[in-house]
Amino acid sequence: MSNETARLFNSTLATAALAAVYELGFLDELNQNETAHVKAFCDQHDLNHASISFLLHLLQRFEIVELSSAQGVVRPGPVFSDAYRDKGYFLWLVRGYGNLWQNLSTSVKNGNGTGDFIGRNGKCIAMASRDYGSQFVDPYFTQMLTQMPFQVAADLGCGSAERLIALAKKQPDFRGIGIDINTEVVKLAQQSVEAANLQDRIAVICGDVRELKPSSEFSLVEVLFCFFMGHDLWPRSSCLSTLRQIRAVLPRAKRFLLCDTYRSELLPSDETPIFTLGFETTHAVMGQYIPSVSEWMDLFAESEWTCVDRQEVGIPFSAIFDLR
Ligand SMILES: C[S@@+](CC[C@H](N)C(=O)[O-])C[C@H]1O[C@@H](n2cnc3c(N)ncnc32)[C@H](O)[C@@H]1O
Repeated sequence: MSNETARLFNSTLATAALAAVYELGFLDELNQNETAHVKAFCDQHDLNHASISFLLHLLQRFEIVELSSAQGVVRPGPVFSDAYRDKGYFLWLVRGYGNLWQNLSTSVKNGNGTGDFIGRNGKCIAMASRDYGSQFVDPYFTQMLTQMPFQVAADLGCGSAERLIALAKKQPDFRGIGIDINTEVVKLAQQSVEAANLQDRIAVICGDVRELKPSSEFSLVEVLFCFFMGHDLWPRSSCLSTLRQIRAVLPRAKRFLLCDTYRSELLPSDETPIFTLGFETTHAVMGQYIPSVSEWMDLFAESEWTCVDRQEVGIPFSAIFDLR
């Protein structure tokens, strides 16, 4: 076996290990305290000590942690801060889309790339998206929002509802509506809203953005967001009719911030950044078209929205389109 194939094999194991220790709270503990006691952590969280030790050895191989096995103490390794920053992408890949990768040879057969067959884990995708979105997207989003004051917003495909929660914490007169199609994700969002004691100002409802109907709540919405689900509205003709329908159902909406990852149009190489290949491959397998920037711009020109600005964000090949 060449070193290259061994590295490939071992990095797959470390990828799964990284997603697991993030989900279990170990990465956060290490990030906060700069040291963690493996046995104490396992006892506290009812985890198998031998299994966790193996996961940490895998992470040590890639310099993410440093283990002093004599005392069972773990410290951040030279790659820890990068791994901590990028942890959401690993959760997205392993837990969000694990079933697709595990069954890749059957997923790629004609007719298999859809719906329940793929079995993506929407809750883990929403948790992952909350993590990388807050770091790589929200600083741009927050800055853009300062350009136009508003009190009522709707988040289409809201995931964890973290953007609405953050706005409500900052602005006492803010009210928000989150809409998501996935019942598990809606539960996660409602729990987060309740944990922040904001249920009197934020409602999260289960619904399909492609089938919005006029309602008294929607009639008050001034600003709309839609983050990382715009591609789910394609093919083009469906997306165009959804954008027009949104315009009709939310008559007071004066601004629509649509943020999405667009098609990179690159072949894999050493220069390919994190996330891009995972995003494009999973969506290709699911038969989901990923539009390029020019295809988005061309669509906006035909919709009832005018794109006045495009802000690139910190996720590779991703931008916020400012529609008015
Ligand atoms: C990648 S996640 C992003 C979540 C959130 N916007 C964020 O940035 O963290 C996409 C979300 O869109 C939701 N979604 C996909 N298609 C939808 C549709 N037609 N109507 C409503 N929600 C949808 C999914 O359930 C998922 O929670």
